[in-house]
Amino acid sequence: MLEGRSLIEPGDFSIEEMDGLFNLAKRIEEDRVYLRESCRGRLLATLFFEPSTRTRLSFEAAMLRLGGSCLGFAEPGSSSVSKGESLADTVRTVACYADLMVMRNPKEGAALLASRYAEVPVINAGDGGHHHPTQTLTDLLTIKRLRERKGEAGLKDVVRGLTVGFCGDLKFGRTVHSLTKALTRCEDLRLIFISPGELRVPGYITALLDTQGIPYQETSSLEEAMPSLDVLYMTRVQRERFFNEEDYIRLKDTYVLTRDKMETAKRELIILHPLPRVNEIAAELDTDPRAAYFKQAKYGMFVRMALISSILGVAHA
Ligand code: NCD
Repeated sequence: MLEGRSLIEPGDFSIEEMDGLFNLAKRIEEDRVYLRESCRGRLLATLFFEPSTRTRLSFEAAMLRLGGSCLGFAEPGSSSVSKGESLADTVRTVACYADLMVMRNPKEGAALLASRYAEVPVINAGDGGHHHPTQTLTDLLTIKRLRERKGEAGLKDVVRGLTVGFCGDLKFGRTVHSLTKALTRCEDLRLIFISPGELRVPGYITALLDTQGIPYQETSSLEEAMPSLDVLYMTRVQRERFFNEEDYIRLKDTYVLTRDKMETAKRELIILHPLPRVNEIAAELDTDPRAAYFKQAKYGMFVRMALISSILGVAHA
């Protein structure tokens, strides 16, 4: 039962609970009338202290499609935080007006803090370079939907035997941290982390993989990893988390996925990207059937509809 619960990091929901959300998302996608008015009279607050296109708009679209309403702000300058109000006071106030809160903040731990002060459930839409659990739900639903053609199955079965590659900024990329963390609860899969030395995945993530006995490899060569990958998760270099612009400029184009580099890739490869993309995937690949990043954005809305309706208790995932 997800009713009344917050979602701060991927470990907050079990694999079974995620499977419930994926099944609900599929039902919502297939039957556009189902749950259409279920959130009438309910309010979703979106508190975005950092830029966003997909996450904020897909949450708002999800709530509106469920018949509910949205309020909030998309830049910190337009809230009283710019007058010096604390995050605790802001969320306590917003909780008086809304039934559910979605928050993105540049500080790691901000969503957890918000959930301690808010009297309504809080969904973390990204806290600094830490976590982004609803992007993980989106990523996993995409992998599941693209692979289950071979028969319906739960997440654990779908990812069994896969080699998943993460490429780009693995140090600051919160989507990478969250997806890896979720995958550590599955079995018989292998991860390959592809990054420049300075942008390697944090030690707490590799420590988790060691504890769970999930095999992984770290390399700086995308070419070397490519032939063995079933899923390639590309990421942007997170400019806003760099301490100096020179390092960003030096590292930003380390990996650019082009048609040439795809020559050794599997025919069934799934290319994911949480988006926005800057330069990591050449536009010439958008028409390749393996490019799944725009489908991924669409699945994001359906899984958020499933999440909102479950947390508000109008559906049971
Ligand atoms: C990601 C994020 O904000 O972490 N975007 C998203 O939510 N889809 C990835 C990114 O900004 O690079």
